[in-house]
Amino acid sequence: MDITALPVWDALDEHADEIAFTTIRDLFAIEPDRVQRCTIEAAGLALDWSKHRATAHTHALLLDLARAAGVEARRDAMFRGERINSTEHRSVLHVALRTPAGQQLIVDGVDVITDVQRELARMEAFATRIRNREFLGHTGQPITTIVNIGIGGSDLGPVMAFEALRHYADRGLTIRYVSNVDGTDITEALADLDAAHTLFIISSKTFTTSETMTNASTALAWLRTHLGDDVDVARHFAAVSTNAAKVAEFGIDPANVVGFWDWVGGRFSMDSAIGLSTMIAIGPDGFRRLLAGFHAMDEHFRTAPLEANMPVTMALLGVWYRDFFGAQSVAVLPYEQYLKRFPAYLQQLTMESNGKSVHHDGSEVEVETGAVYWGEPGTNGQHSFHQLLHQGTTMIPVDFLVGLSSLNPVGEHQELLVSNVLAQASVLAFGKTADEIADEGVAADLVPHKVMPGNRPSSLLMYDVLTPEVLGALVALYEHIVFVQGVIWDVNSFDQWGVELGKVMASRIVPALRGGDVTAFDASTQAAVARFRARHAG
Ligand code: F6P
Repeated sequence: MDITALPVWDALDEHADEIAFTTIRDLFAIEPDRVQRCTIEAAGLALDWSKHRATAHTHALLLDLARAAGVEARRDAMFRGERINSTEHRSVLHVALRTPAGQQLIVDGVDVITDVQRELARMEAFATRIRNREFLGHTGQPITTIVNIGIGGSDLGPVMAFEALRHYADRGLTIRYVSNVDGTDITEALADLDAAHTLFIISSKTFTTSETMTNASTALAWLRTHLGDDVDVARHFAAVSTNAAKVAEFGIDPANVVGFWDWVGGRFSMDSAIGLSTMIAIGPDGFRRLLAGFHAMDEHFRTAPLEANMPVTMALLGVWYRDFFGAQSVAVLPYEQYLKRFPAYLQQLTMESNGKSVHHDGSEVEVETGAVYWGEPGTNGQHSFHQLLHQGTTMIPVDFLVGLSSLNPVGEHQELLVSNVLAQASVLAFGKTADEIADEGVAADLVPHKVMPGNRPSSLLMYDVLTPEVLGALVALYEHIVFVQGVIWDVNSFDQWGVELGKVMASRIVPALRGGDVTAFDASTQAAVARFRARHAG
């Protein structure tokens, strides 16, 4: 589908020219109930999107775009389990992972909800044994340390959730994450651990990912070094995967394996069995609360009219800036220290999904697709990159996230935190003119340096306090934003062919580093290989 051929695309193009000289200040001045019109509440989140360069007419046109692109039909197809992942011929059913027990969703003759609930029950049994200190290691001592080995979707979601929900975690357990094939990662993670108390969870959808398999082998060797070659591996290794055969080949006891399905994409899997470490940390009840938050946002996305639909609104604003203002990135700035890994998690979710240049049918896209997502917690970012957000030459739309209450209320910290996020959003939107600065008696030569251009868009996402439900709703919100944007750009948000060639190349370079033939490689790679070999010679 060539979206630029739709009449609404031209209308948006023209409208972007019209609105170019209208500022957010103007929009607030002419529309007294703007904030009310631009507030959406759903699943424990409140979105204020009033500080955007969008009028009611912009919103109407963007909604027309969503309808013309078939967002609703595509959404319903996803929820029905149709194979909308066209290049891998798979359903996309992460929403089934949080559908409550008792409902039915038949895909290819199988009720996937029953399957999901069965694996959840297995996760719960496993997590409960660990939490009750009933899971004993080789020496008969209880397992109290979990090391999750995985990468990409098998790491980023679990790490993010563990950090986000630390407040709810069993503090008697040590939980660590190893992802990088850089030996430093696993070395530092294991350095102070007692093998007798340590359990490794090998998390990998495919169970073939080079980094994860390498780290898993290193973990096994470490275990044998510390507990002897006859160590009972079943007491120290568990696995989460869709590939039971490969797990068995590695030698992990089937009793310690929890499964999921090919219809769960890696970056959409933190609420599947991939979340086993999350469940061990916060307990089965906490995990169910997380799922409930996801589900609440799913229901909102599925049933709310497009004009009051939070993910649809945020997705459309993203398309608006990406395609009509040339914005290249989106900053996600949580004013919530517990969400420090949320931007990193979103990077895979958004960029692996919509960093695409061809449509479903293989034809080239006509417009810009996925933006770069990045961010850091506030207020730290204010003392780092906010200068560019405020006065740089590039417009970067921002998503501000903040809880009204802290899980750690200390003195006046929360007032200061909230005052800062509100100040940043306000200054970005309304700025300060040269006249206003001059009126304050600032020297004329300094005035241009102090001008705050404003008119820089941001969304403000608020919630009462960070709970498992809120985290679930937040993640589901961004999952659905990704989905809607993928539909509008007509790209497959659920494959990731772009990561494959690098993996193949790396596997060919390994033998070259060990002394093999290098002639197949480019001159630069050959030179680097030669340098590596020289360093390791003798
Ligand atoms: O290389 C990209 C990727 O395939 C991601 O999509 C995925 O989340 C990650 O690797 C890890 O894959 P697996 O869970 O199969 O080890």
